[in-house]
Amino acid sequence: MKTDHLVIGSGIAGLTYAIKMAERFPERSITIITKGEKEESNTRYAQGGVAVVLNNDRDSFNNHVEDTLKAGDGICNRNVVEMVVKEGPPRLEELITWGTRFDRNPRGKLELGREGGHSENRIVHHKDITGYEIERSLLNRVKQLSNISLLDHHFAIDLITEHHFMNCLPESIHCYGAYVLDQQSDSIITILAVTTLLATGGIGRVYGHTTNPCVATGDGIAMAYRAKARVTDMEFVQFHPTVFYERKDGKSFLISEAVRGYGARLRNRKGERFMFNYDERGELASRDIVSMGIDRELKKSGEECVYLDCTHLPEDDFRSHFPNIYSECIHRHIDPARDWIPVLPASHYLCGGIEVDTEGRTTVGNLYACGECSRTGLHGANRLASNSLLEALVYAHNIFKSHSELIPVNPGLSHAIPDWNDKGTEVPKEHVVIEHNRKKLQALMRDYVGIVRSDKRLELAGKNLENIYEEVESLYRESKVSTALCELRNMVNIAHLIICQSRGRTENRGGFYNMDNIGKDKTPQGDKISVKPRKHEC
Ligand code: FAD
Ligand code: SIN
Repeated sequence: MKTDHLVIGSGIAGLTYAIKMAERFPERSITIITKGEKEESNTRYAQGGVAVVLNNDRDSFNNHVEDTLKAGDGICNRNVVEMVVKEGPPRLEELITWGTRFDRNPRGKLELGREGGHSENRIVHHKDITGYEIERSLLNRVKQLSNISLLDHHFAIDLITEHHFMNCLPESIHCYGAYVLDQQSDSIITILAVTTLLATGGIGRVYGHTTNPCVATGDGIAMAYRAKARVTDMEFVQFHPTVFYERKDGKSFLISEAVRGYGARLRNRKGERFMFNYDERGELASRDIVSMGIDRELKKSGEECVYLDCTHLPEDDFRSHFPNIYSECIHRHIDPARDWIPVLPASHYLCGGIEVDTEGRTTVGNLYACGECSRTGLHGANRLASNSLLEALVYAHNIFKSHSELIPVNPGLSHAIPDWNDKGTEVPKEHVVIEHNRKKLQALMRDYVGIVRSDKRLELAGKNLENIYEEVESLYRESKVSTALCELRNMVNIAHLIICQSRGRTENRGGFYNMDNIGKDKTPQGDKISVKPRKHEC
């Protein structure tokens, strides 16, 4: 199958880019593939909203820039931060014209919420289900555009590059599309494309305890890494401070930072408001600081969770601002008007990823990345709340602008591209091996590569990962591919990148904390941490 523009992923990044391309170039074909249901994505679960400077009497672009730089702890790219912040208002306007509804006050003005690390109210939102509303409106707009084909239940296995059809590799590698598993027919198709956009989202599932849905297994980053694209800042995994604490293994549920922005207080079991011991902003410090504060409280007390106290907030207002959070708490037998909500941190967002320039170009030709899978330089060592949806909107627009011309790389080569070859492989007889290794990997990341790391734990993590890697690679070589196996293989690649890049960072910064780095100087701004290839990849 051939298409002009292949988009992998149907969250805010992929859909926004596809809509813009389809509207501007009706003669071109755009194909979106997405694994599982088309709505399933991190986007769908976003609660707080989109950070945009709109109230120019109180706020300014400069304030938003400074807040972003402060959260990023010295390694944001200032030019990128300024560009993204300034582009916010027109991109938000576009989203509204596509039908996204945001909360407004009685005078019709957008209501602006507050979140940790923001010095002003600047978060536009749709109650506490902003992402659900954005995903709904974008999918609706996609349906109206006849030059977009959206193939759900289509899983991208690997990017097609010269590695698949040339013995002698050229100096620079290009992407020609992807091998894709049709999850319903179990067949593998080759999709050739002039440009390929990775919009595959986050990696939360590499840690068992996460706010992310099942699809967040880091596939795009792993594919890009195998295609030899540059992947950086993987040590900066962001842990969200307030995820509902389930005693049993239930579905994790986020209690938005907007709830703290609304006045909720964090307490330990004794009822003490401990966050002021860690930062003068208390509960409204940036989330790396709040997560670390909670982690320390829990280590000191030996308790399993801390509490978010909303009991002093007006009950009716709380319910109308946070209807989804309210009903999820009630469902879990906690009444926010009377009970403290038990919470603890969980993996939430990846600040690093596939390195891109301001037009979303990766270091592989004709391959682009947008949204959470990309590393633009906006977030540095710690993302400021609600800057992720904004980043996806702005970069989707930048990539669209750079795609006015359609220039295929060496079209003659497309004949040389082989279809997927699975000769000599079998349907695995024992799925338990996949499940067992997935659980082992998640436990390893949680226990050794969590909020607080150490040299010893990272070394052990690396050693233990090698065993999982060997087992999974040999299974992959012998088996007919399945979604579960490919996801596990990708998660192993992601874990490798996080561990190696964590071991390379010899200073503590933003969301990255290694106990053995205490007192060491911060590395100069812009330092890159490289990852040695595995033995099979040398
Ligand atoms: P996603 O929305 O995750 O979409 C990725 C898509 O790629 C999915 O459709 C997935 O199925 C598909 N995909 C993945 N791998 C493959 C593959 N191999 N083949 C085919 N398809 C594939 N950010 C904010 O700015 N504000 C917030 O209020 C906010 N709240 C959040 C709350 C929660 C609970 C979570 C989890 C995140 C929140 N974030 C928030 C972060 C933000 O939602 C995400 O970073 C952002 O939505 C990512 O968008 P994306 O398009 O890059 O990826
Ligand atoms: C939240 O609502 O707390 C999440 C916001 C974000 O991740 O940006």
